[in-house]
Amino acid sequence: MFNTRVKVKALLATEPKNQEVTVMGWVRHFRNNQFIALNDGSTNNTLQIVVALGAFDDSLLKRITPGAALKVVGELIPSLGKGQKVEVKAHSVEILGDCNPEQYPLQLKNKPTLEYLREIAHLRFRTNTFGAVFRVRHALAFAIHKFYNEKGFVYLHTPVITASDAEGAGEMFRVSTLPFDNPPRKDDGTIDFSEDFFGRATNLTVSGQLEGELGAMAFSEIYTFGPTFRAENSNTARHLAEFWMIEPEMAFYDLEDNMDLAESFIRYLIQYVMEHNREDLEFLAQRLAEEEKQKPQAERSEMGLIEKLEFVVNNRFERISYTEAIDILLQSPAYKKKKFQYEVKWGIDMQSEHERYLVEKHFKKPVIVTGYPRDIKAFYMRQNDDGRTVAAMDILVPGIGEIVGGSQREERLEKLENRMKEMHIPVEEMWWYLDTRRFGSVPHAGFGLGFERMMLFITGMTNIRDVIAFPRAPKSAEF
Ligand code: 4AD
Ligand code: MG
Repeated sequence: MFNTRVKVKALLATEPKNQEVTVMGWVRHFRNNQFIALNDGSTNNTLQIVVALGAFDDSLLKRITPGAALKVVGELIPSLGKGQKVEVKAHSVEILGDCNPEQYPLQLKNKPTLEYLREIAHLRFRTNTFGAVFRVRHALAFAIHKFYNEKGFVYLHTPVITASDAEGAGEMFRVSTLPFDNPPRKDDGTIDFSEDFFGRATNLTVSGQLEGELGAMAFSEIYTFGPTFRAENSNTARHLAEFWMIEPEMAFYDLEDNMDLAESFIRYLIQYVMEHNREDLEFLAQRLAEEEKQKPQAERSEMGLIEKLEFVVNNRFERISYTEAIDILLQSPAYKKKKFQYEVKWGIDMQSEHERYLVEKHFKKPVIVTGYPRDIKAFYMRQNDDGRTVAAMDILVPGIGEIVGGSQREERLEKLENRMKEMHIPVEEMWWYLDTRRFGSVPHAGFGLGFERMMLFITGMTNIRDVIAFPRAPKSAEF
């Protein structure tokens, strides 16, 4: 039934020669009982369907309402109207699915807000904004695989359920089949997880890195790309409880190599989308420009979306040490005027306001910060000779802050073991991880790019819940 259909995007690019075509999609609007704007998600543009006056029953015309699904067979002809090159003169119109206009929440009379659309996330794909966002998301996912495939990296699927805490931050969702109301208990009253499904306590993974390192110790270069989960109670426009992360892990890489890879990766992704999703990006740039108009002058960004992306492609990222970053902050007018809410001194975990000052006000471009204090970073990072910093690197970008977190890994068994003990990481349970340091350990490095943060950067959307189809955040798991 459906296989002769041609998608709207293809038809809009077809030479009209009165050929018969079949098209299917959803009605965006129906004007003057004659002109249907039909969309099938292949593009934000709609195909105009002309139903000649008097050619169809009133009872059928009444059912052509926004949201209704149609099958149209007709002739592809040059359009007489402005705004489109082709249109379809309908010979037959079949209603595949009615849409009650009284109940349909997506009436385009009043432009729905992004907040409202979040509440109807099951329908928001049908709007231009989310059409563009999710086509870009698709392209970006594809480009990620293309990038690593071209470099010979092996795509490794790391587990979603795991017994370890890769980041050691304790922000995990428990996975259990034990009864909540009456779990088995040990003599000391604590829950007896040996009776649980896996015979031990398990959780959803916060990162595939540790398993990724195991792969890198054989394939030399791997990457993961999958969902990760964090039970951090951060109700912000930049945090999700379920987000996707790309984690490459490379043997024979030091921190410098790691930064070079991350930088070229980000550039490649932006270039790919600029080349393949031009139309959607232009739409999103326009959307952002309108959103910016609502803001006071001082808060508006200096560049438009596409200008910003081009700038990032054409300019190297700034590279500074954490110590330099803190010095810049301490000498900033913002600090002197007490504009920062959080304290600034060597040793702090920089807050979003600090990161954004560095990239938006000081450098006005992406910045890679290296050499963080070891006390604020994970146990697996390589310890520097100064005894107080580690070979970490974070990439910060305008409008968002941290987009990449990574490091060179501690490949020296003794140093790693000692650090784990200091940080109360269960060394015995991690025997398999430590084995890599026993059997042919090599310098290696890797990083994690937050997929949704990258989406925010590329699409210019401002809330992370608008770049993932069905966001999971504190008190929010609808759909
Ligand atoms: O800095 P993070 O915690 O690093 C890791 O997980 C390492 N294991 C990565 C590695 O070296 N293989 O997270 C990496 C990135 C962050 O820079 C951020 O972009 C994103 O993941 N991220 C989040 N994105 C959305 N919501 C959250 N709650 C996020 N937490 C981290
Ligand atoms: Mg981080």
